[in-house]
Amino acid sequence: MKLADNKATLSFSNGKPSVELPVYQGSIGPDVIDIRKLYGQTGMFTYDPGFLSTASCQSAITYIDGDKGELLYRGYPIEQLATQCDYLDTCYLLLNGELPNDSQRNEFHGLVLKHTMVHEQMQFFLRGFRRDAHPMAVLTGLIGALSAFYHDSTDITNPKHREIAAIRLISKLPTLVAMAYKYGMGQPYMYPRNDLSYAGNFLRMMFGTPCEDYVVNPVIERAMDRIFILHADHEQNASTSTVRLCGSSGTNPFAAIAAGVACLWGPAHGGANEACLNMLEHLQANGGVAKVGEFMEQVKDKNSGVKLMGFGHRVYKNYDPRAKLMQETCNEVLAELGLEKDPLFALAKQVEKIALEDEYFVERKLYPNVDFYSGIVQRAIGIPVSLFTGVFALARTVGWIAQLNEMLADPEYKIGRPRQLFTGSPRRDIA
Ligand code: SDX
Repeated sequence: MKLADNKATLSFSNGKPSVELPVYQGSIGPDVIDIRKLYGQTGMFTYDPGFLSTASCQSAITYIDGDKGELLYRGYPIEQLATQCDYLDTCYLLLNGELPNDSQRNEFHGLVLKHTMVHEQMQFFLRGFRRDAHPMAVLTGLIGALSAFYHDSTDITNPKHREIAAIRLISKLPTLVAMAYKYGMGQPYMYPRNDLSYAGNFLRMMFGTPCEDYVVNPVIERAMDRIFILHADHEQNASTSTVRLCGSSGTNPFAAIAAGVACLWGPAHGGANEACLNMLEHLQANGGVAKVGEFMEQVKDKNSGVKLMGFGHRVYKNYDPRAKLMQETCNEVLAELGLEKDPLFALAKQVEKIALEDEYFVERKLYPNVDFYSGIVQRAIGIPVSLFTGVFALARTVGWIAQLNEMLADPEYKIGRPRQLFTGSPRRDIA
């Protein structure tokens, strides 16, 4: 970042002396007012719960222009990455800043695809869970538990350790997600195969059985890979900020990523795809398109507590570019599986149409986000609703790691420790 040719002056109407604050600018996007010295100069904090106007860090990884509906990974538009690259190329880009050349690509793909097995003891962790445990509860436990097996890559001050931990997490997440699924199904785990693609391997571990060979459908394989790309990173969202704050204490990368998984689970965040599909299925079961108008009235009624899941976004005040690409992927998968007449997809498109024409959504700039169509395409592929957020966590792991490693590599980083506006009781003594 560099100093802008501009300064901010903060003055007070009660006569407190004004302070001058430096303004910094990035390569694109909003400038920032540097308030690091504000408390020292004024004895006051800023107040921004939810961080609507706060930049928590500087980053060169992902840029979002919410008004334009633009998403760039290391400068490349998501539309180009999703159609011209694969997920492992995107992982390399997010981690290293550039797309790989042929030899870098072969080495990176080889590294990831040859480290997909997990320690045989991991399966005993799963046995501790009930068979009907939510997969996100299982994954939060399994990913945190990885730190118990990989002491040789937990020194976050060692760049080599950070690199090894990154490969291990990217490689093993699909295996763990598939194990959580198989455990819930009561089916045997499928060991990963080194001769399959990243997405193909995941599909086989999910839907293959030891009883017969599993043939990867290339259309579904490409769709799965694109779903991973669309979820790979997204600036300083809640779970990424969680990973950064957790990692800032110096804890190991496995623990920090487990914290990100736990945060992503929430229905306001990554859990929205599960909540969105449940919402559509409920609508479908209770009158379908004919009842959408009534449902929209509930959504617009503040007292109902009902939100249109998969709609709205803290940053996008235009169409989430990922939602458009997810809808295309949805079309491809449904056509491949002969499900073009999928009533749920038809209902979702009707809900989207009605919402985009409704003043309530228009004036609040509420558009479909990445979660609106991702549930429909995952359901068509055969992924159970409760595992949607697990797939999101699988894909987002590379983004969390890239952001964590960017922070750890910044010599200026400190442990994150926000302050507060205290509104409780002043000092008092027990009578
Ligand atoms: C993800 O941050 C990221 O980048 C996240 C993510 C990523 O890749 O990491 O993009 C992934 O989490 C996508 C978002 C998934 N969540 C949902 O689809 C859940 C439904 N969406 C809402 O909960 C909401 O839109 C949020 C949480 C996503 C954003 O909330 P904000 O920015 O805090 O906005 P807000 O709640 O202040 O909403 C502004 C207004 C309010 O109405 P008013 O008080 O102004 O009258 O819009 C309304 C809200 O009530 N509103 C909605 C709505 N979303 C916002 N009303 C109905 N349905 C909705 N979905």
